[in-house]
Amino acid sequence: MSGRRVLLIITGGIAAYKAQELVRRLKERGIAVRCVLTRAAKELVSPLALAALSGEKVYDDLFSLTDEAEMGHIRLSREADLVVVAPATADIIAKMAHGLADDLASTLLLATDKPVLVAPAMNPFMWRHPATQRNVAQLIHDGVEFVGPAEGDMACGETGPGRLVEPDVLVERILVRLEPQSQPLRGVRALVTSGPTCEAIDPVRFIANRSSGRQGHAIAAALARAGAQVTLVSGPVAIPDPPGVHTVHVESARDMLAACEAALPVDVAVCAAAVADWRPEMSAPQKLKKEEGAAPPVLRLVENPDILATLSRHERARPRLVVGFAAETGELEAAARRKRAKKGCDWILANDVSPGSQVFGGERNQVLLITGDGPAEAWPELCKEEVARRLVARIALALGRTAP
Ligand code: C5P
Repeated sequence: MSGRRVLLIITGGIAAYKAQELVRRLKERGIAVRCVLTRAAKELVSPLALAALSGEKVYDDLFSLTDEAEMGHIRLSREADLVVVAPATADIIAKMAHGLADDLASTLLLATDKPVLVAPAMNPFMWRHPATQRNVAQLIHDGVEFVGPAEGDMACGETGPGRLVEPDVLVERILVRLEPQSQPLRGVRALVTSGPTCEAIDPVRFIANRSSGRQGHAIAAALARAGAQVTLVSGPVAIPDPPGVHTVHVESARDMLAACEAALPVDVAVCAAAVADWRPEMSAPQKLKKEEGAAPPVLRLVENPDILATLSRHERARPRLVVGFAAETGELEAAARRKRAKKGCDWILANDVSPGSQVFGGERNQVLLITGDGPAEAWPELCKEEVARRLVARIALALGRTAP
């Protein structure tokens, strides 16, 4: 674990005293810990003790010119592998859910690009309050991970959910997040496309498809968990951005191609988006009106750029490994092999999207992996997360890393 770094944000719960134990245990495992205290936490835990235990300066004030000169708050938020908020009060959870940044702790949480683990601690009524539950649901939707709260007797004399989890539970969860052997793709840059594209007819109407983005998002999340630096270029979807992934939101195929080219160079590209093959030749600047007695407008379509083929044949920055998908309704394998040759990608994952297969928009997927002229590999029906994990294991091996 040496060389791994945790930014520990301690907020003002009675349980703040347990942060000292947490710092001690993380340090024992060679993990560097930098502590940040809110104003309330400073009343409950000694910054001096934390500085002695962590061996690092303890930060608490956003407007300290000395601190900003030594270590700007953006750098502070980025120079960590994991951000841990423990104990997390109802107040910091509310600030995080709403994107408030009025002190150092909340500003760091808004500025970080790292995974965030939150260990709440508060009175059971505060935890169960609909406002807190709304905020927690929002944060989970945003990709924040929660550990606890535990149930039990509270310092205030009440009993219920609201206790900070014990340090060993928290340490365990932190270790899992930092595990170097589960991060074989550290230093690898990856690009993933996901979701549908929307091709405008006029300012309110568009052509799209039923792609949910679930498979592409799961692949981006699995690559990030394996340590890759991931850019996800996503068409409009109803699911949250995966944690630890740089997500670029686009609408049309042309925007998607531009965002992909801007992300180059990468080591591996996975094109899971259901890109519209055609777009309306013209997109009307004003909403098309239905005129009494007039014939309905005729849509003339033109071909969209092929992102997978463009990346596969990129002259300046062809990724080492390009993976495409083939969603087919007929004879799967032969069509997927033809597609692999036509697009010039290295691997293709073929799936059956015939009516009734429930792949588009569904939770599960059944694929054939074609990596060359050898036999195709038929994977059993799996949830999309498991398809993503298996694909990432194969990518790691292909890049000469060990599988996660
Ligand atoms: O030609 P088809 O749409 O069946 O090809 C599917 C594969 O090609 C998928 O990997 C998809 O992401 C990619 N594709 C693309 N750009 C397009 C069309 C498809 O990247 N315009």
